[in-house]
Amino acid sequence: MDMQKDYFKHKAEKYEQEVARTNNVQNIANKITNEIDYTKNMEILDFGSGTGLLLSAVAPFVKKITAIDISESMNKVLQNKSQDIKCDIEILKHDLTKSTINRKFDGIISSMTIHHVEDVGALFEIFYDMLNIEGSIAIADLDLEDGSFHKEDTGVFHFGFDRNEFLDIAKKAGFKNLKIQTASIVKKPYGEYSVFLLTGKK
Ligand SMILES: C[S@@+](CC[C@H](N)C(=O)[O-])C[C@H]1O[C@@H](n2cnc3c(N)ncnc32)[C@H](O)[C@@H]1O
Repeated sequence: MDMQKDYFKHKAEKYEQEVARTNNVQNIANKITNEIDYTKNMEILDFGSGTGLLLSAVAPFVKKITAIDISESMNKVLQNKSQDIKCDIEILKHDLTKSTINRKFDGIISSMTIHHVEDVGALFEIFYDMLNIEGSIAIADLDLEDGSFHKEDTGVFHFGFDRNEFLDIAKKAGFKNLKIQTASIVKKPYGEYSVFLLTGKK
């Protein structure tokens, strides 16, 4: 039996109703598609794909996206709209931090997920392993914050990240051409939170 807690069980159905959230992911997607030269023969991976906000925006530029998420309820929302996504899509319920999948991709994208992962260094090594040579990463997450971003427990290990430390982690895993920039500002009623985008290549 799978005993892993689905932290997003009660959030999945209403996840896309928060405008600050959808705007944030749209900003991230715009930055990613400006930075990375995707082509229609590429297969990419979205780590922590959730309801598919990010991958839906990247889909028109690639051939196939493999969506990986541990939350059954988020995967279900994505499954229900998969007909409208403008590339091939495969949805996997999987925790990449526990075991890898034996596949290679031309790119990895991820938004607002890495702060849910305890050992980020180990995850970046897995990312590196899963990419073809010259494959790209485009990873967006919160800058350091005071812990007020999340009002509910969704399995958070990091209150955002220090950009230099995040760059170092990617460098140690072997990534090159690394660049980190502001992708978005999330405006919540109780504060503003900046989000960075890290891009690089294997
Ligand atoms: C804040 S949501 C972001 C979803 C989507 N990327 C977006 O920007 O709208 C984080 C997602 O990461 C997933 N997640 C957290 N830890 C994970 C792990 N170890 N492996 C796969 N998915 C994970 C959660 O289930 C959740 O759907």
